[in-house]
Amino acid sequence: MSSSNSAFLDELRSKIDIVNLASRYLTLTKRGGNYWACCPFHTEKTPSFAVRENGQFFKCFGCGESGNIFNFVMKMENLDFWSSVEFLCKMYNIQPPTQQENEQLAAQKKERELMYNVLKHTTEFYHNNLINYPNSPQAQYLKQRKINAEMIDKFKIGVSVNFDDLPLYLKKQGFSTQDMLTSGVVGLSDDGQRLYDFYGKRVIFPIFNGFGDVVGYSGRSVEVSPDHTKYKNTNQTAIFNKSEILFGYNFVRDLKKEKLLDTIIIVEGHIDVISCHQVGLTNTIGCMGTALTQQHARKIKQLVDNVIVCLDGDSAGENATYKAIETLKSVDLNVKVVRLNKAKDPDEYINKFGKDAFVEELSNAIDCVDFILTDKAKKYDLDVNSQKTRYVEEALNYIAKFSSPTEQEIYLKMVQQMVKIPLDSLRRQLMQINSNHSKPANEEVETNEIVSNKNILDSKIMLLAAIIYKKLKNFEDFSGFFNADDELSSLYKFVAEKLKENQNFAVSSLFDQFDIKNNSTLDKVINYVFPSDEIFNVQLQDAIKQINKYQLKQEWEQVKQQMISAPTQQQQYEYLTKLQELTKRINEIK
Ligand code: UTP
Ligand code: MN
Repeated sequence: MSSSNSAFLDELRSKIDIVNLASRYLTLTKRGGNYWACCPFHTEKTPSFAVRENGQFFKCFGCGESGNIFNFVMKMENLDFWSSVEFLCKMYNIQPPTQQENEQLAAQKKERELMYNVLKHTTEFYHNNLINYPNSPQAQYLKQRKINAEMIDKFKIGVSVNFDDLPLYLKKQGFSTQDMLTSGVVGLSDDGQRLYDFYGKRVIFPIFNGFGDVVGYSGRSVEVSPDHTKYKNTNQTAIFNKSEILFGYNFVRDLKKEKLLDTIIIVEGHIDVISCHQVGLTNTIGCMGTALTQQHARKIKQLVDNVIVCLDGDSAGENATYKAIETLKSVDLNVKVVRLNKAKDPDEYINKFGKDAFVEELSNAIDCVDFILTDKAKKYDLDVNSQKTRYVEEALNYIAKFSSPTEQEIYLKMVQQMVKIPLDSLRRQLMQINSNHSKPANEEVETNEIVSNKNILDSKIMLLAAIIYKKLKNFEDFSGFFNADDELSSLYKFVAEKLKENQNFAVSSLFDQFDIKNNSTLDKVINYVFPSDEIFNVQLQDAIKQINKYQLKQEWEQVKQQMISAPTQQQQYEYLTKLQELTKRINEIK
């Protein structure tokens, strides 16, 4: 963004009060620190639309819409960003910025819009091919997979029947070679002479973002040949980020708006998602064959508290299930699991046994911890005492990861039923493990992944909120806490940059830089509810300690790994010294 531009936007932000702006459209009532109204963006009878004076932004707790003065006008007046700037200038009698000042910011926006546009035409092209080439192997393939017309329309499915038509078509629509290349829909031949359809001769599944815009594709090959990948996917582009996108999320999000959503079903493949939707299970999304990330999990958590994981029946699917449970649990979702053994995946299951049988499987989904405890037991022969003991140890260690005593008690009973050891002695053993866990680390540093990840995330959110709302007397450098490749770190970097240079920045300006509305973590930072300063200061000091300790533990783990793999004894010794130092520092944090 050019500095003149952001200076101008800052000026607008400082001149236009969001409460004043909103009150031109809505009847606001002051309650607590906020102003409230019925949300203009969805129908409701009791107000859940809050306008926050101190952060200069709005948020609807009903439909989730949020943003600054620009977002408000964009939604109210149905305008794009720059039109909303112009509109506000007129409304408040402020001289708008010159064309030249707009250019740099507009250029970025234009590139993204161009990409959306190329993809929109590409999607139409592929979709129309189904009508133009009904007998192509690709169109036939969709028939063979029993995907009906309704789903073809809903998911905007299409086909590519050769490598040349798409670039020609896009050229006719007025797109340049560069436009096509940046959008990732065509490739350039090795000699640089020829453009070819990146998904040539494949069945095309468009991938949508949360708003239903096409941002990429997966193209499935229809013939079996060893050099063909089954699915060819869009590479990372300015609008497509694999670790954030879930197949079908946009549809599920629509369900949420209609308040028809309680649980999300997570499956692996595109066709699994489509098959589920086809039989009316419209709360299904797909991870597109990749491991679920924290970002995925948080996006899911924004919509629901409950998920059912129903991945492929093979052993890869089993490992993926384990990982998915861990990731989904870490954002505090209730996770249930279905393992299909009569079919390889949901699509095959539905085709073989029908919807009712599949729904029956879903209704028998088991709690994820139950699943893990049962699954762990398979490794042991519980009739042999020594093996039974080992199982109990492994199971109780797993249970100990769960902080809530109620949960622990439920899981303890499950183990009890499997091993038939008196509940009391199991309980004693668990208490022993619990107390080992809460002891300060001595030689061993405990890594209690599931629990601590979540607490650390909360602590980081608190710290970042404190920085943004200037609750810290002086700006301190916390970059060591925010060096991961995640959204909190990019927010920290952005804010730290400004604060280091002693620049004033408005909280509301963050809405222009970050997709806060669609990111529950950032939303938590911006909407942080502070207790009284006195209490907050104590909490914050504790949070900083916790993060510090966590970072040191991470480092400890790393050094330990290095020590293990160090080639010489001398080096091992050096690492050991380092470890001892770290242990000391960790133990010093009370
Ligand atoms: P599977 O390999 O289980 O697909 O991949 P499948 O069930 O046999 O495939 P269909 O149903 O016949 O099409 C499951 C998912 O993994 C991703 C895709 O999202 C696919 O839907 N995948 C698989 C890829 O992205 N690339 C691949 O090469 C293979
Ligand atoms: Mn599959």
